[in-house]
Amino acid sequence: MRGLFVTVEGPDGSGKSTQVENIRKFFEDRGMDVILSREPGGTVIGERIRNIILDKDLKEMDPMTEAMLYAASRSQHVAQVIAPALSQGKVVVCDRFVDSSLAYQGFGRGLGEAVAVINSYAIRDYMPDMTFLMKLDPEAGIHRIERSRAEQDRLEQEKLTFHKKVYEGFLELEKEHPDRIVGIDASLPKDRIRDLIFAKLEELLG
Ligand code: TYD
Repeated sequence: MRGLFVTVEGPDGSGKSTQVENIRKFFEDRGMDVILSREPGGTVIGERIRNIILDKDLKEMDPMTEAMLYAASRSQHVAQVIAPALSQGKVVVCDRFVDSSLAYQGFGRGLGEAVAVINSYAIRDYMPDMTFLMKLDPEAGIHRIERSRAEQDRLEQEKLTFHKKVYEGFLELEKEHPDRIVGIDASLPKDRIRDLIFAKLEELLG
């Protein structure tokens, strides 16, 4: 028996966490056992790796180091949380997964194909059944981040040109995987977004 694996992706400030909560509620209301998680993080080891990756004082981090750290956090997450939960028939809802690496490190940092290769070891064959891509112009996303610049993490502090490349990457992934990735206009009212997502989840449950 394999459970269901649903991920939510999108630029910083695109409202992912609100929808992750809605998705949890959708499945719980149907009596299903749900595990909520996030990347980077989701395990003790992953959260420690997260602290290194997002530390705004570590400006010297090499892009490949960054890509490998995200993949390392993911590998632990798959092994310790995602694979066991899915094999117990649970629903796993994750705030970001491999598409974030493909967009941020592959497109944003320009590492391209290498990111898919590294991550194939981390994810084994655990790809999401459905991925919601919260589509929001990166400029609008940056304005939605309420923390002051000094409080933002290392990735958030990146220039707008970086965030634009990341966003193009997400749009490219959406085109490449139309069966898995569902694009959602993140500028719509929250309730409307929830309804669109719930309709797709109904389809997924068949
Ligand atoms: P997250 O905690 O989801 O930040 P936010 O709440 O702002 O969306 O993710 C932290 C940052 O890490 C975010 O800027 C996206 C980035 N990231 C990558 O660059 N690659 C990855 O593989 C993942 C999972 C996240």
